[in-house]
Amino acid sequence: MGPLQGKTALVTGASRGIGRAIAERLAADGARVAVNYASSAAHAEELASRIGGIAVRADVSNRQEVLAMFDRAAAAFGGLDIVVNNAAIAIMGPIRDFSDEDFERVFAVNTRGAFYCCREAARRLRDGGRIVNISTGATVGGTAGGGVYCASKAAVEQFTRALARELAPRRITVNTVSPGFTETDMFHSLPHLVELAPKLTPLGRAGRPEEIAAVVAWLCTEDAGWITGQNIQAGGGLTMV
Ligand SMILES: NC(=O)c1ccc[n+]([C@@H]2O[C@H](COP(=O)([O-])OP(=O)(O)OC[C@H]3O[C@@H](n4cnc5c(N)ncnc54)[C@H](OP(=O)(O)O)[C@@H]3O)[C@@H](O)[C@H]2O)c1
Repeated sequence: MGPLQGKTALVTGASRGIGRAIAERLAADGARVAVNYASSAAHAEELASRIGGIAVRADVSNRQEVLAMFDRAAAAFGGLDIVVNNAAIAIMGPIRDFSDEDFERVFAVNTRGAFYCCREAARRLRDGGRIVNISTGATVGGTAGGGVYCASKAAVEQFTRALARELAPRRITVNTVSPGFTETDMFHSLPHLVELAPKLTPLGRAGRPEEIAAVVAWLCTEDAGWITGQNIQAGGGLTMV
């Protein structure tokens, strides 16, 4: 019997990359998992059917769609214990050239989307539940070209710190996991990072999505019940990009 047997989970952005690995790992550990996606329906449906969960389409930046996603997951599973806020987009560029439209899009998905999902999780999770927000190791230092993306994630880290205190009376823990360079579509869409990753990462390579998923899954166990309000760096020793 896995450590998450009997638990139910919703993972945003779980059709690809890190979110997909998190959904697979939570399911392998015994949880029933709702696999959220925005556009990759085939990937999400295949994963959900393989792990015995459900696929739920919702753009996390859309409040109505987020509400409907939580309704659907709660109805399918009879309640929710775990929410992992992983969905995000990365648009990079120097601030002097950054357009209003790109700024709005990054904050809509990464920050407002995480806010909507944190708010619904706070309202709906069962006592003793878990919220894990995915940020980035790049908020620790400064990154030329990453100002807007990192700012959108730094806000999410603050949601974690406040929510951990707000939900502590209900034994719901709230933590951030901050990946370093990790082998996904997002990472490979930024070729200069692919080149930099082994040089800047003390352990000498980019991480695998499964290595991030292992940290998230542990935070969801009973064993991690004493950890809340923290930002766990999961980046092979990377502390600054
Ligand atoms: N990869 C890295 O090196 C790295 C490093 C640090 C932090 N991170 C963080 O780790 C998380 C996962 O990143 P990744 O590398 O796995 O990204 P990815 O490969 O680009 O996958 C992104 C996932 O998010 C979903 N998504 C995007 N916009 C969405 C929206 N509006 N609503 C719902 N879902 C949406 C995508 O769904 P569709 O497939 O349907 O589009 C996809 O499943 C992100 O929070 C990212 O910021 C990644």
